[in-house]
Amino acid sequence: MLVNLKYVIDLAEKGNFAIPAFNVYNTETVMGVVKAAEEAKAPIIIQVYPRLLNEEVGYYLCPAIVAAARKASVPVCFHLDHGPSEMEVQKALRWGATGIMYDGSVHPFEENVKNTKHIVDICESIDVCVEGELGHIGSVNDDAMDEFTSPEEAAEFVKRTNVTCLAVLIGNAHGHYKKPPKLDIERVKAIREATGGIPLVLHGGSGIPDDQVKAAVNAGIRKMNIGTDVCCAFADGTKEILDDPSRSLAIDLFMKHPIETVKKLALEKIKLLGAENKA
Ligand code: 13P
Repeated sequence: MLVNLKYVIDLAEKGNFAIPAFNVYNTETVMGVVKAAEEAKAPIIIQVYPRLLNEEVGYYLCPAIVAAARKASVPVCFHLDHGPSEMEVQKALRWGATGIMYDGSVHPFEENVKNTKHIVDICESIDVCVEGELGHIGSVNDDAMDEFTSPEEAAEFVKRTNVTCLAVLIGNAHGHYKKPPKLDIERVKAIREATGGIPLVLHGGSGIPDDQVKAAVNAGIRKMNIGTDVCCAFADGTKEILDDPSRSLAIDLFMKHPIETVKKLALEKIKLLGAENKA
């Protein structure tokens, strides 16, 4: 069932859990995460980086995501991840996205507010909701980041933009952490309180220790993004099957194993976030 971002975020808010948002890259990763969601009876978000809309791949991948979501027995939102401009947002909407992230976190506060509000206004008219970002979430390879999202700024940002959920910087980063991160759970609580309970989004979900993920969900994280772990599960599955002398070379049969390893990873994350049986 293809649903919009608000539908799945509302489920998470009411059920006190977080929606797993899986970054996908090809049809096989879509198949893996949807199989996991159906088996676990979990609502999920399938999301794509904007470069996947820009390259030829979007022409094939986006219709496959929409078809998979429509056919799924559980709620699935098709979401744009880190849209940098209106152009990427328009492309994603044209490809059928039912959730949009506009990431204006690289801009000064006032510009981020203005741009995000503009995207919210465009999307509102077609019943699509928007995730904003405040506090730039970088990569694990960046220099130490000590500028976390401020609860006061978050309150003003949410009030002025009317976003449906907000990605925050609380010690997280994209990619596999070089050493385990230490999430600022108190800050999650403070941002929730200051904003009147806006659903919060945790980016960089690959490699955060399970106890910290659970604490973050208890504190008000309602969506967690998982990208690098999906890539690793797919790559590991591909390598394992390449190393198996009895494998078939027929691509559809060959790909069954990487689809299974992606499904296994997705099932683990669904359970960790408390999304099992919440469809
Ligand atoms: P990871 O690749 O670290 O899991 O982060 C994914 C993400 O946050 C996408 O926006």
